[in-house]
Amino acid sequence: MQNFARSSDKYTVRFYPIIKSWREIVTNYIDELAKITELSQEIDLPYIMGNPIALEQEIFTGRDDIGLRIEQLLLDRRRPPLLLYGQRRMGKTSLLNNIGKLLPSNIIPMFVDLQGAPSSASDYAGFLYNLARDMEKSAKKQGLTLPSLAREVLKSDAFTYFYEWLDKVEQALEQNTALLALDEFEVLDNAIAKGRFDEQDVLGMLRHLIQHRPRFKILLAGSHTIEEYQRWASYLINVQVVHISYLKETEARQLIERPVKDFTLRYEPNAVERVLQLTRCHPFLVQLLCAEIIVLKNEQDPSIRRLATLADVEAAIPEALQSGGFFFADIQNNQVDATGEAILRFIAAQGEGAIVSRQTLLQLFPDADITFNLLLQRELIEEVDNGYCFQVELIRRWFI
Ligand SMILES: Nc1ncnc2c1ncn2[C@@H]1O[C@H](COP(=O)(O)OP(=O)(O)O)[C@@H](O)[C@H]1O
Ligand SMILES: [Mg+2]
Repeated sequence: MQNFARSSDKYTVRFYPIIKSWREIVTNYIDELAKITELSQEIDLPYIMGNPIALEQEIFTGRDDIGLRIEQLLLDRRRPPLLLYGQRRMGKTSLLNNIGKLLPSNIIPMFVDLQGAPSSASDYAGFLYNLARDMEKSAKKQGLTLPSLAREVLKSDAFTYFYEWLDKVEQALEQNTALLALDEFEVLDNAIAKGRFDEQDVLGMLRHLIQHRPRFKILLAGSHTIEEYQRWASYLINVQVVHISYLKETEARQLIERPVKDFTLRYEPNAVERVLQLTRCHPFLVQLLCAEIIVLKNEQDPSIRRLATLADVEAAIPEALQSGGFFFADIQNNQVDATGEAILRFIAAQGEGAIVSRQTLLQLFPDADITFNLLLQRELIEEVDNGYCFQVELIRRWFI
């Protein structure tokens, strides 16, 4: 082209503008086609629902405030054990998987899922072996190699060898601190209740760690309070509770509007507001609803696919209630009793945002004080103006 432009040849001078113009037409058309193809493509689903978010997965959002609180409590010279307390699917495991990012690098998180191998072990040798192996695995993710503990040596005198191993771990830690995070501590409680493990042996070991091994800090995570598990209280003195609940509004907005880099769906402002209202920034429910919105958008015409409207959000609700059935059914079947369910259904029937007076409820459900407390504790309802209402609109919808 440049040669053409400079040439003074008569034909070149004549044809140059024509070639230039054709060239422009073709390039523009290529661009246009590229845009059309891009638009007609489906929106990728960035959401992870149900499974905890693993280390370094981009979708992990927020929780800096909880990281900070844990960091501060770890500095407490009385070395209190911590309880990360939050309802099911509020993000405890996801947080523990990602806690390394939120804490200073001299704190090495060691994550143990008690629902897995440790609590299902048949004896102490198996229990302690699995515990050690999980600790070793997560230390490795933080770049720290721990000595390994052979299963055979535990056969004779499990606790003695385990403590010896802990000595070596302390050496390997050098100036660092280990944060031993035991997820789903209720499962271990169950194993003790069933007589599979002895209370004094297992909880005594935890107490020993807390009192005599300053390099280790203990964090338990679960959806029950220590008061609900009386036997733990006498071993874990001075427990500090870290409450994990709904995301902050800015965090939820990010999860909706920009869950990952190059997210190609835009929301109209009132559509975002509606997602916030329906979910109350519950991390799992935001992901559930937004995933259904994407599924709906992908079925729509490419010309309107990239913009989510209020109508789209409303249309996604029944889909979310259905695909998230396991979450809602767990509340109904495992977290409340029959009276609790009846109370929830009654409040739900009064409509979105309805507050039912305490008096009305006590007339309908006399002697249900304990149940009200349970519903409050499970963060299903809240007290407003001497009455009760649902905390989360999507959960209310399930109970209609
Ligand atoms: N920080 C977070 N950012 C984004 N999504 C989250 C976050 N925490 C939880 N979630 C969502 O909630 C779901 C349940 O989280 P999980 O960590 O398994 O909860 P818990 O351990 O409290 O039961 C995850 O699959 C994910 O969809
Ligand atoms: Mg969990």
